[in-house]
Amino acid sequence: MSMQPSTIYLADYRPPNFSVSHVELDFDIHPTQTRVVSTMTMKRHPQGEAIIVLNGFELTLIAIELNGRELLAGEYHRDEESLSIPCDEFDVTVRVITEINPLDNKALEGLYRSASMFCTQCEAEGFRRISYFPDRPDVLATYRVRIEADKAECPVLLSNGNLELSGELDNQRHFSVWYDPFPKPSYLFALVAGDLSAQSDVFVTASGREVALHLYVEAKDLDKCDFALEALKRSMIWDEEKYGREYDLDLFNIVAVDDFNMGAMENKSLNIFNSSCVLAKPETTTDQAFQRIEGIVAHEYFHNWSGNRVTCRDWFQLSLKEGFTVYRDAQFSADMGSAAVKRIEDVALLRARQFAEDAGPLAHPVRPASYIEISNFYTLTVYEKGAEVVRMINTLIGDDAFRKGSDLYFDRNDGTAATIEDFIAAMAEASGRDFSAFMSWYSQAGTPEVHVTERWDETSGFYELAFEQRLPLAGGRENWKPLVIPIRLSLLGEAGALAIQQAGAESADNTEWVYELDQYEATVKFGPFNERPVPSLLRDFSAPVKLVDTLTDEQLRFLIARDTDAYVRWDSSQKLLLAEIERAKSDSYSLCPKLSEALAAVLADDAADPALRAYSLSLPSEALLQQGESVDPVALFTAKDRVKAAIATELQEQFRTIVAQRVSWDQYQPSAEQVGQRLLQNLALDYVVKLGECSAAEAQFASANNMTDQLAALRSLFRYADRHPMAEFISQWAEDGLVLNTAFALQASARDGATLADIQRITEHQAFDFDNPNKVRAVFGSFGSDNTPLFHAKDGSGYEYLGDMVLKIDESNPQTASRLAAPLTRWRNLAPAYSAAMKAVLERLAGCPTLSKDLYEVVSKSLL
Ligand code: PHE
Ligand code: ZN
Repeated sequence: MSMQPSTIYLADYRPPNFSVSHVELDFDIHPTQTRVVSTMTMKRHPQGEAIIVLNGFELTLIAIELNGRELLAGEYHRDEESLSIPCDEFDVTVRVITEINPLDNKALEGLYRSASMFCTQCEAEGFRRISYFPDRPDVLATYRVRIEADKAECPVLLSNGNLELSGELDNQRHFSVWYDPFPKPSYLFALVAGDLSAQSDVFVTASGREVALHLYVEAKDLDKCDFALEALKRSMIWDEEKYGREYDLDLFNIVAVDDFNMGAMENKSLNIFNSSCVLAKPETTTDQAFQRIEGIVAHEYFHNWSGNRVTCRDWFQLSLKEGFTVYRDAQFSADMGSAAVKRIEDVALLRARQFAEDAGPLAHPVRPASYIEISNFYTLTVYEKGAEVVRMINTLIGDDAFRKGSDLYFDRNDGTAATIEDFIAAMAEASGRDFSAFMSWYSQAGTPEVHVTERWDETSGFYELAFEQRLPLAGGRENWKPLVIPIRLSLLGEAGALAIQQAGAESADNTEWVYELDQYEATVKFGPFNERPVPSLLRDFSAPVKLVDTLTDEQLRFLIARDTDAYVRWDSSQKLLLAEIERAKSDSYSLCPKLSEALAAVLADDAADPALRAYSLSLPSEALLQQGESVDPVALFTAKDRVKAAIATELQEQFRTIVAQRVSWDQYQPSAEQVGQRLLQNLALDYVVKLGECSAAEAQFASANNMTDQLAALRSLFRYADRHPMAEFISQWAEDGLVLNTAFALQASARDGATLADIQRITEHQAFDFDNPNKVRAVFGSFGSDNTPLFHAKDGSGYEYLGDMVLKIDESNPQTASRLAAPLTRWRNLAPAYSAAMKAVLERLAGCPTLSKDLYEVVSKSLL
């Protein structure tokens, strides 16, 4: 990067001068020299300037023609990132011939080689690495794509839409021609050429259209296709039933690739997946991975409407498609398994990681106002907080109006590039609700806090809740507007939920109410009651806020035992565990007997969902613990370990019993029932190993018929035991790259007695590859987030090491490098010694003259 990169602002949005209605693309594929001929039918916008602006990056320009005439060097202007042609006509044809080198492309954007196949990744701005084009999402064109390649090397040639033609050529080459009738932006373009095998199926849509489904993989992976194809069919039916959305072509392809920067990509009718997010079989895939795969398959499929049929006007609107689609996939997963468990998992992720992002130097609103590199904005805020915002809309207007609003949004904006305002307008119209105050959720960064205090008047029986919202990131009230915060609540008495007596309360049974806090402060009065209620607040996590309450430990234990809301029960146990970890910073710590009793009761509650019991006994993640001011990560790690050991000791009989009475199934299923049971059993196993008892885990490791149980046993032994079967595991799975990645990740995470040299050694394994994002993330991602003792080593060696690795990866793959740098950006929250050492590494990176835009943005904003 030679110059200081520039900032792009939402406020500067202008429509393009020229749009493209149709493009003919011709690919002549050769590994190091692929020729691309693009013929664009363009039209000038009535208000557009007389200049055609095309984006292009690292392209070899061979020729450019305007209306059939080749342009001379002086007739257009070209710089590192664009090509512009002065042109005062209104209807033009532009043809560009470029050459690219897929083999050398390690950034994994544009056209690149992964294993033996050629594939593309164009979102957000990868198409400009393929050809000169107005590479922006508000330019929608139909595409006809001709692909020519060596027949032996690339027997399969795929692009978007329908296959029109294919045939043989001289020199052992062949070709195929694809046409996609749906106008789309360039970021949804895709091409795959390689030696692939397919597993196929058929889906018949609601209106009777037969859709051929193909999952393309390397031949060795054909036994890992069933689950994703079944998940795809479940998604297709669900979207018809729940949202009235039918699939619109006769063909739907998914391709699995090993080298991919993200999870998966929703290219029109040709989804491309990171192989880790689609390939599955019980022996190699954990329960959590199965569930993730189901969710991602659904997510990409749902994008066909929320993203493709209606796309985004500009990248600031990213959450329009991502927030809505994450919400849709979460609803789908809730319907497929346990809704309560899915909700708790999502909330745990949001609180651990999105709240941290929202409190760090890269905090941004769900709709950012500016960026340097858009790839840095595929964040937990845009995705997960964006989904929470959509969920709140649903909560505020109810299911019927939400569905009406969704129908209206799709009808009205079909085939166009929309904005978040278009989405909100449809929801407002369908519900009759005014969303103007609500819009601050899209523009204000930071996690809001809701402070609640109770007032109970024994004599009158009136009970008050006083709420105050704050936005610490923004500071004083003059800097921010109050948000509309739906707070779902109940008031619990000895015999169950009390009838809510409050003017305006509406609820079928009148024991639950969604209170809308829309002022800085408000007080609500309930009653009269003849007992003091215990408040159950923010039920089902009804808003992405931090609830700061004054509930006593006794009230929290009451909620754990008595509430009917699974989220509140879990959250109450997490609050007590967090407080317990704080107490455990002291050397004289011992487990609070009342907490121990409460946890024992949860563990013994056979009527409750095993998954929920397991989550209630899981200690908060490092990411959650490390939020706040002047954090000492190592002290917290040690304290958490003490609490873990104490719980293991206090509840040992119960844990041993669960382990001894372990249920296993001959027929493995990633069903809610089995997953929950395994979660609880493996939690108990972990506590037992923590006590130093390894035989059950060793036996489970050796005899497990599924990866969930085998890996769980390995993890506990690796962390806490002197002897562990890591080497056996790695040799058992030497042929399976995805399993090896999980082994690498585990090796890079915290282990009693490990040193930095142990981490460095992982990268010497022959299966490790610095060019593969999954492997790099497995090692350095886990190191940065799951290895507190080594990453936060007092001498700064962990920070130095991650900094070195990030720099190394940045040379070839900026997107992946800048994501891996995230743990290095949190220095402001750390205690002084850590903080100074981390900042020094960031400063070293900042002084590096060759940083990519991606890493530059992360590093420079972290130091601001
Ligand atoms: N749009 C993809 C999704 O959310 C994510 C993605 C972004 C993939 C950028 C690749 C590159 O489904
Ligand atoms: Zn998405």
